[in-house]
Amino acid sequence: MYCFFFLFVLINIATVTANYLHAVPSVPFSSDNRQSFRLRSLKHIVVDSSFADEVNTNGSTLIPPTLWEFASTFQLDVKNELGLQLRLAIGKNPAPDAIFLTLDKNQVFKDAAGILTSEGYSLTVDRNGIVIAGASPLGAWWGTRSIMQLAQLYDCRLPCGSGTDAPGWRTRGIMLDAGRHYYPPDFIIELCSYLSFFKQNELHLHVSDNLFINLEQTAASEIMNTYGSFRLSSDNPALNGLGGPQNESYTHDQFEAIQQRCAKRGVSVIPEIEAPAHALAITRWKPELALSSDPTMLNVSHPGTLPLLREIWGTFLPWFHSKEVHIGADEYSADHIPDYVKYVNELSSFIQETSSKRTRIWGTFTPSQGSTVSKDITIQHWAPYSDNAYHDFIANGYETINSDYMFYMVGKWSPYFGQRLNKTLIFSADPLGGPFAPHIFDAANATNNPPRDNPFVVGHISPFWSDWGPTATTFLEAYYSWRDSLPALADKQWGGSLLETEYDSIIDTLRYIIPDQNLDRRVESRTALVLKYPLNKSHVGKVIKDHSGNNYHGILKGDCNAGENGLYFAGKCHLDTPLHSLGRNYTLSFEVKPTSSGPATLFAGADSTLMSQTAQSELVTIISGSHPYAINYTLPLNRWIRVELAGRGESTFLKVSTVPVTDDKRQVTQEFEFLTRIDTHGVQAGSNYTTVWRPMAFEAPLARIGEGFKGYFRQIVVRKNQ
Ligand SMILES: *[C@@H]1O[C@H](CO)[C@@H](O)[C@H](O)[C@H]1NC(C)=O
Ligand SMILES: *[C@@H]1O[C@H](CO)[C@@H](O)[C@H](O)[C@H]1NC(C)=O
Ligand SMILES: *[C@@H]1O[C@H](CO)[C@@H](O)[C@H](O)[C@H]1NC(C)=O
Ligand SMILES: *[C@@H]1O[C@H](CO)[C@@H](O)[C@H](O)[C@H]1NC(C)=O
Ligand SMILES: *[C@@H]1O[C@H](CO)[C@@H](O)[C@H](O)[C@H]1NC(C)=O
Ligand SMILES: *[C@@H]1O[C@H](CO)[C@@H](O)[C@H](O)[C@H]1NC(C)=O
Ligand SMILES: *[C@@H]1O[C@H](CO)[C@@H](O)[C@H](O)[C@H]1NC(C)=O
Ligand SMILES: *[C@@H]1O[C@H](CO)[C@@H](O)[C@H](O)[C@H]1NC(C)=O
Ligand SMILES: *[C@@H]1O[C@H](CO)[C@@H](O)[C@H](O)[C@H]1NC(C)=O
Repeated sequence: MYCFFFLFVLINIATVTANYLHAVPSVPFSSDNRQSFRLRSLKHIVVDSSFADEVNTNGSTLIPPTLWEFASTFQLDVKNELGLQLRLAIGKNPAPDAIFLTLDKNQVFKDAAGILTSEGYSLTVDRNGIVIAGASPLGAWWGTRSIMQLAQLYDCRLPCGSGTDAPGWRTRGIMLDAGRHYYPPDFIIELCSYLSFFKQNELHLHVSDNLFINLEQTAASEIMNTYGSFRLSSDNPALNGLGGPQNESYTHDQFEAIQQRCAKRGVSVIPEIEAPAHALAITRWKPELALSSDPTMLNVSHPGTLPLLREIWGTFLPWFHSKEVHIGADEYSADHIPDYVKYVNELSSFIQETSSKRTRIWGTFTPSQGSTVSKDITIQHWAPYSDNAYHDFIANGYETINSDYMFYMVGKWSPYFGQRLNKTLIFSADPLGGPFAPHIFDAANATNNPPRDNPFVVGHISPFWSDWGPTATTFLEAYYSWRDSLPALADKQWGGSLLETEYDSIIDTLRYIIPDQNLDRRVESRTALVLKYPLNKSHVGKVIKDHSGNNYHGILKGDCNAGENGLYFAGKCHLDTPLHSLGRNYTLSFEVKPTSSGPATLFAGADSTLMSQTAQSELVTIISGSHPYAINYTLPLNRWIRVELAGRGESTFLKVSTVPVTDDKRQVTQEFEFLTRIDTHGVQAGSNYTTVWRPMAFEAPLARIGEGFKGYFRQIVVRKNQ
């Protein structure tokens, strides 16, 4: 929404009914409802000169922005998303028609356990302007997120009044399994922007892993060829042979950029290097360190294992800007618990001594099983069958992060876990009544949940696992697992009060202004018609005019000729559009007549490519994340075919129809769906099937048309369908 437009219909009257404003998370606020402040009259963002250079040293990042830096990001957001051009200034006091950003060192902001938090802020609105006073610059930043959301939801008119807000828990976020699937750096940065808008502060990035291997059914040679990765690539010669796949690893520069861009919006990247289990990327490189009983696990009692892990961590610790790192340590062989404990403690001490960072591990073995890992280690509980978070860890004085599998997802398919967050559960998980909160580990049995103010519950992380490897999902499908309900979970991780009906009524409106990301791959369009290139004779020139009304004119590169009521691509030209990619739901239709076979691109975009043929196959194929997904169809030569690529929810279809011509009046139509084959390695208990087929959702590729293609194109039309 643009705040400078007058709105005659006020959808949300700025009324405070409960003791909070509707935003995600909810914003505690009290108001007499008599007066309001119009954001249209804003002229400045004023940063308190006493605190402009201050940073928050209490958060989870070592690269915290200053109050001034947060303010300049806010200034850009307000311009880009609300259309308000505000001047950024330094000042001593709140000014008229300004948002004053300051710190309040006297106010005490407390979390759910009554412990001081640096992430709180207070918000005051009066007829002159707005004051946000943070416990720290990070607290003030979260206050700016409230302003962004309230502007959108309350028609740029905030009720006068005030409120004090603070998160109940210090760890709030998601985990992304980048070990079994590559996620490009830009995608991770966009995810951070998404989290930040809802005041989530951590992105836990799992950077090494391998696919599950059923040892009984798998030959030794096959095990070594199973997909496994280590995504950090360093030039330390001692680690030569570890990184990879080479082109799908993060360089130091890329990892630095990810961390900096996330920190800029208050989000810390918590890296996880997984060992001693899930460590095929390491054991393939150093087979002598593998456990004889399981080649994907490191033998923790082998004298070479700990020194190698010290070398690895010693190499990468200087890359990491978080105060805590994750060493994995889950699903190890229960035959070696004492050695496991020794390994975990020694590695954790090494990390502490070299970098002053704390360590996290997944909940694995319990103290009653003899796992007496140091209490300096934070436990990230996930499986109620391996531990009872409350009785095994919290009651024994371990700081514990809740990643219970009630909000745990596996991409695309799983016999056990969901593919989406369960919104109903988010609003109802407390067995005593009420919504989820990080201290709820069991939605059925209250005995397993510590009190809300237990100080050993440090927060909640919702994991997404790429169990079926790189081909099962596109990287954007991981986002869609979270998209609809992660903001609701963010409200609960913060300790917010939103009701499900309130959430449902505001979330889609908020999606339009989430800054610094376009995960939905939206394209601005005046109507549902996004792009139209008729490409018939009369319109051919260097510039291809867009007839949609959006002026997305294309540019021809190389030699293309008009002819036969279509544009002829001789394999030496292509058409560039100003667009990149279009997200769900869309139809991309065109007519095409290939005159020669061979690999060629029909449409290429930022997230996918539609090929008429590839080097490997004559079938029509979509390439995504460098993986081919073919349908059982080959475009015939020398015949006009009408093609419609349709993204419908979680599926992508291709419909082809022959275009009737004088000597052949038939019109044959066929529809195909793009699917992925998941090899389950016999995971499904009690059943024999080994593969499942699941739909793929691809974004429409729109950037470049016809590269390498020989033949004709016409009537290119792109529509969005809601
Ligand atoms: C920040 O950390 C310092 C040093 O540990 C501590 O004294 C202070 O109370 C903390 N402040 C907040 C707001 O958490
Ligand atoms: C682990 O390594 C030790 C020391 O080399 C060796 O004695 C032991 O047999 C190994 N254990 C397994 C299960 O591979
Ligand atoms: C979501 O959670 C609710 C409440 O626990 C439950 O009844 C429902 O079956 C769950 N839905 C799915 C799809 O798992
Ligand atoms: C609830 O949990 C407690 C503690 O783990 C257990 O003893 C009890 O049997 C459980 N109750 C039910 C109904 O499952
Ligand atoms: C070309 O397409 C435009 C727009 O669809 C149409 O108005 C025009 O008649 C077409 N011209 C030819 C020669 O087909
Ligand atoms: C990475 O390299 C592999 C093997 O050469 C190739 O198949 C894949 O397309 C490449 N991936 C990217 C993202 O370039
Ligand atoms: C693919 O299509 C051809 C003919 O169009 C058909 O003979 C063949 O059985 C199909 N293959 C599969 C796997 O469906
Ligand atoms: C896309 O369409 C599906 C139905 O096919 C619908 O469930 C979904 O909400 C739509 N998505 C968007 C982003 O409009
Ligand atoms: C699985 O396959 C085995 C042998 O191939 C057969 O004996 C068994 O009955 C099958 N089980 C099921 C549940 O189909």
